[in-house]
Order: sequence, then C-alpha cells, then structure tokens
Amino acid sequence: MTTAEYKRRRRRLAAAMKPGSIALLAAAPESVRNRDVHYPYRQDSDFSYVTGFPEPEALAVLVPGRKKGELVIFCRPRDSERELWEGGRAGVKGARRNFSADEAHPIEKLDKVLPKLLEDRDRVYYPVGANPALDRRLMKWVNVVRGKARAGVRAPTEFVVLEKLLSEQRILKSKAELKVIRQAVRISAEAHRRIMRWCRPGLSEYQLEAEFVRICASQGGRFQAYPPIVGSGANACVLHYVDNHHRLEDGDLVLIDAGCELEGYASDITRTFPVNGRFSPPQRELYELVLAAQEAAIAKAVPGNRWNDIHKAAVRTLTEGLVELGILAGGRKAIPKLIKKEKYKPYFMHRTGHWLGMDVHDVGDYRVGGKWRRLEPGMVLTVEPGLYIPADRTEVPSRYHNIGIRIEDDVLITAEGNEVLSMRAPKTVAEIEACMSDE
Ligand code: GLY
Ligand code: MN
Ligand code: MN
Repeated sequence: MTTAEYKRRRRRLAAAMKPGSIALLAAAPESVRNRDVHYPYRQDSDFSYVTGFPEPEALAVLVPGRKKGELVIFCRPRDSERELWEGGRAGVKGARRNFSADEAHPIEKLDKVLPKLLEDRDRVYYPVGANPALDRRLMKWVNVVRGKARAGVRAPTEFVVLEKLLSEQRILKSKAELKVIRQAVRISAEAHRRIMRWCRPGLSEYQLEAEFVRICASQGGRFQAYPPIVGSGANACVLHYVDNHHRLEDGDLVLIDAGCELEGYASDITRTFPVNGRFSPPQRELYELVLAAQEAAIAKAVPGNRWNDIHKAAVRTLTEGLVELGILAGGRKAIPKLIKKEKYKPYFMHRTGHWLGMDVHDVGDYRVGGKWRRLEPGMVLTVEPGLYIPADRTEVPSRYHNIGIRIEDDVLITAEGNEVLSMRAPKTVAEIEACMSDE
C-alpha cells in the first residue's frame, strides 16, 4: 500500500472521531509456540490498516488537529545487536521517514510521553477490553493526567471502542485493497485448480495441503489466511477438520477449504471433488444441489439486497432439493414450513458466508439499526453453502452417507451486481471432471 493510501485511511478515521478525541492502536504481541520458537509474526489488522507499521512492540496515537503533528508512533529503537539476530527495525527515524509519523519515540518512553498526549482530550478511542495490558496502562496514564487537575489540565472522561469506526471503513474496500484481494484470490483459485488436477487415490490429505501451500507460497502467498481444511470421505462432514492425515480413497469426495493471505489480505475458497475424478450418482445429486444453492445465493449478492437475502436463497434451494431427493419428508407444499422450522439444519448448520478482507472473517456489522445490512459496491464476501451427511444420519438413505460438500467463492459487490473473484477454480461437475481427466 502506498503512503497516500494510509494517509487517506487516517484522514477518514480522524473525520469519524468526535472533536476533542484521541485514538490509540497497539501492535499485535509476538506469540511463543514453544521454547525459543515464535509463531510467524502477524500484525494486528487494525494497526496495520492505519499505519502499515509491521513490527511488534509498537503503539500508534492519532490526535486529530494536534499542531505538533497528528500521528505519533512509539516503537522499538534501533539495536545493532538484536537486529543481527532478528533482522532490521525501522527505529524512531524510520517510523518518521517511512511510515509518515509526525513524531516518534522509543517504546520505553511510553509512560513519560503518553499522559501528555491525553491532556485536555475528552475522549479516547481504543480497543477497549481487547488488550488487558493496554487497558491497565491507559488507566494509569489517565490517572497521571487527573493528578494535574489543579493545574487546570482536563483528563479524558470517555473511553470508546475504536474497532467500530475502523470496521465501517474496512468493510468498503478501496481500489488498492481490491488489487491485492484479487491477486490473493487468483493465487488460491489457481492452487485449487492445480491440486484438483494432481489429486488421485492413494495420496494423503496432507499431501494435498502441502501442494496447496507450496503453490501459494511460490507465488508470494507465503502465509495461509487460516489452516487449510482437507477432509476426504467422512472427514468432510467435520466443518473445521484440520487433522488432514487420512489416505484419499477411490470413490470418496475430498473437500478442500483453503486460501492464502497476501500482503495482509485473505482469500477463502472451498472446492469439493471426487478423489478419482468422477462423481458417483449420489455424490453428483448432492453436489448439483449445493451448486444450485450457491448460484441462487450469488445471484442475490447485489447492491440494495440485504445480507440475509443471500442465506435465504441458499436455504430455500437446499430445502427444496432435500425434499426432492427424499431426505426431507412432506412434499413441495411443506417447503415453507420446513424452512420455518429449520429442518435443513441437521445437514446445513452454518451461515452462507461472511465478510472477507484483512481478516478471513472480516470486520463489519451484519445488522444495522436492527435490520440485515444492505449490500453496497466495494464489499467483499464469501458465498459458501454446504451439505453434510455423516453415517449416523440414519434417517437419510445410506447412499448419501459420508458425503460432505461445501462450495465457497469470494464475491465482490459491484455497481452492476457482483463479480466472482474465484472463478478460476473449477466448480461445475463438467469443469471438475474435465480438469481432472485432462492429462
Ligand atoms: N475457512 C473458514 C470459512 O470458510 O469460514
Ligand atoms: Mn469462509
Ligand atoms: Mn473457507
């Protein structure tokens, strides 16, 4: 992202803050995996969105209207000894030069400098309750300012959740963000296509995972947006199955829910296909039904419609299909009642999608003013209905047992309707069988 993009974001955040406010954002802490080993560092999405600053142990302060400068960054100072082991740091100068801080201080100076920034500010926007260490320190700084009351200094009296302001901004993606999201989705869709082609009986779920991760990483998507789910046969009925250690058996379906993260933006795609390249009749019947539900749902993902219209379309198509296949009893006339009583839920127990952005389950309210939110151009979401029929669903004919299917695409709402960004991953029965049979 360019410096201009970050400046635009801060200007919009400042405009959304009430006059007389200050905002605090903290970098994500590093987390230990085990002795001397850390998880790969991932910056906090809000902190990254506002500053682009990639390091841990940092705090950003935005003080709209402050004469000496609006953006103050506290960060780790340069340290040649540490940098020899851990790699370069921006340092205080770098925070000013490369991240547009008007003022920067070593993080050790926080207790000394921060109370001064709070003086005469009425309201503090910060991630209230999300970071207990920050909560405690902020109260300490506020008490320092309160101690100056007799000198005529005012301390803040209101503490407001910051995330709400940022999520309203983050839910509408900018041109620059869409460029990165498109690329992340393109890489993941291509990886799905390639592992579909490569899959054959006798491989293991973890080998498909490894190949998916390798293809993404080799194109710059080094990190996955979430742990890949590769579930074959009955494992596909476990929604967040991540063991990925079973052999792929001839005659089973395999469900792969995986997407890389690129420059801090997630992709999230699911494809389900036959391990041996040909759908069996019962697999095909259920697959065609989930696909019809997904297409009906995508058709509702257009500006002006409400968030829940997407889910409602998927539920309606799935319920109709389950009646037709004899899985739900009652006939066509019973459909409205079956929907009302949520009789589809034992087989489709999750929602049809979520916002997508820096976080795979991205920020943004789904209801506004008590009503499902209206869709607007610039929103990005997933559409991912499914059907899951484990063997203990004895009320369902056994030919459908151990079949789990989810089809998930990443969709951009446009002025004209929508654009499915993950189109390159084969999806219809014909596309999948052609992709898998092609030598
Ligand atoms: N991969 C998580 C989800 O689909 O929501
Ligand atoms: Mn998803
Ligand atoms: Mn997913």
